[in-house]
Amino acid sequence: MNICMIGTGYVGLVTGACFAELGNKVICVDNDPRKIGLLKKGEMPIYEPGLDVLVHKNVKAGRLSFSMSIADGIKNADFAFIAVGTPPRSDGSADLSFVENVSREIALNLKKYLVIVEKSTVPVETCEWVKKTITKFNRKKIPFDVVSNPEFLREGTAVNDFLKPDRVIVGLETDRARKTVQKLYGPLKCPILFTDTKSAEIIKHASNSFLATKISYINSVARICEKVGANVEQVAEGMGFDPRIGRSFLNAGCGFGGFCFPKDLEAFLWISKKLGADFEMLESVKKVNEEQMIHFVRKIEESLWIINGKTVGILGLAFKPNTDDMRFAPSIEIIRMLQERGAKIQAYDPISMPNAKKVLQNVTLKDSIYETARGADCLVIVTEWPEFRKINLAKIKKLLTHPTIIDGRNLFKPEDMKKMGFHYASIGRKSV
Ligand code: UDX
Repeated sequence: MNICMIGTGYVGLVTGACFAELGNKVICVDNDPRKIGLLKKGEMPIYEPGLDVLVHKNVKAGRLSFSMSIADGIKNADFAFIAVGTPPRSDGSADLSFVENVSREIALNLKKYLVIVEKSTVPVETCEWVKKTITKFNRKKIPFDVVSNPEFLREGTAVNDFLKPDRVIVGLETDRARKTVQKLYGPLKCPILFTDTKSAEIIKHASNSFLATKISYINSVARICEKVGANVEQVAEGMGFDPRIGRSFLNAGCGFGGFCFPKDLEAFLWISKKLGADFEMLESVKKVNEEQMIHFVRKIEESLWIINGKTVGILGLAFKPNTDDMRFAPSIEIIRMLQERGAKIQAYDPISMPNAKKVLQNVTLKDSIYETARGADCLVIVTEWPEFRKINLAKIKKLLTHPTIIDGRNLFKPEDMKKMGFHYASIGRKSV
């Protein structure tokens, strides 16, 4: 099938490349000349494991191309996917102006029946607005359908998540749209749930907010574990055996971040308030997450006593491993609080340092894990990159001025760290 993918961010580019991989002909459109320029040269504007290979392969096979023109993109298309940004405004609501602009441009260039798919994370009722906008500018009254198809892929594992999804959710109104969508997603061989458009939109917000709730829940449990000397990992394991609960997303840590959870939580709260159906529970989820970062900084303070004038080495800046994404990364807030208390920060991240440079100030970025430890008063782990688990702890011990590690992602066993002579504090477990 012919697909026009509008927006080449994490969702748009991965989805476009994966649809091409499935044998479709895809044109990825973006109004950012830098991104399109890079892609045409075969370079990726974002880091996502496996994406470059997929893009190169499908460009070579003639199934994937890039353009700055929506008119060109939809000329022969069966589908136009809207995967543009919906950034948060200061009140928590989503800024939908990119979605509106794209809808208008699609309408002005409609030539034949088109299924317009809303892929960006948007508040409930956005599909209705997209439909109204297209109807308004669709002067030749060409038939079209608007479909809500929320994306559940995770950064760092996005290609695999797309090609092997747990489920595909499609909110739609007509049989014609249903048949066309069925043909597109059929090859994925996963459950496809057809719903009305509003339910599909709510599924996305409700799922992300639920996962965020799980994390804040286990982080709250972790604080109780710390008070009584229990171990949150054992608690999570015990809870996780119950299939009604499940073990995933019960990793206690120094807080969740990224461009989805904080933003979607905020947006869901905003919508619920606007609709007069306050979702107060989500206020607590947000509060617990904010407090978790403060709690973590307090742990560092307890280990160092006075932070002022001390050098803190930070391992991991991206909001999670295997991504270069710094948006709403807990590292930003943690570093800000440490700097406020007078710490000198030196940091390392395997991939996200070019992006980190744009958002962090007065941070010395180092070339390696070991250079980050050299001369530091303590080492703080913020992101659980797999390579951090394999660090040579004996070497780290020699490089630090004091053998102190504060671990926000529970990478090591407290008993092992104690044996090695470290002062080691982690989340929801006894400090040694
Ligand atoms: C999330 C959803 O998982 C995905 O379905 C949706 O499409 C987009 O939002 P993503 O933001 O890529 O994906 O990352 P995810 O792996 O969900 O992690 C989000 C944050 O939660 C990270 O900061 C991570 O460190 C944190 N987290 C996750 C925890 O603190 N504990 C956990 O157990 C799981």
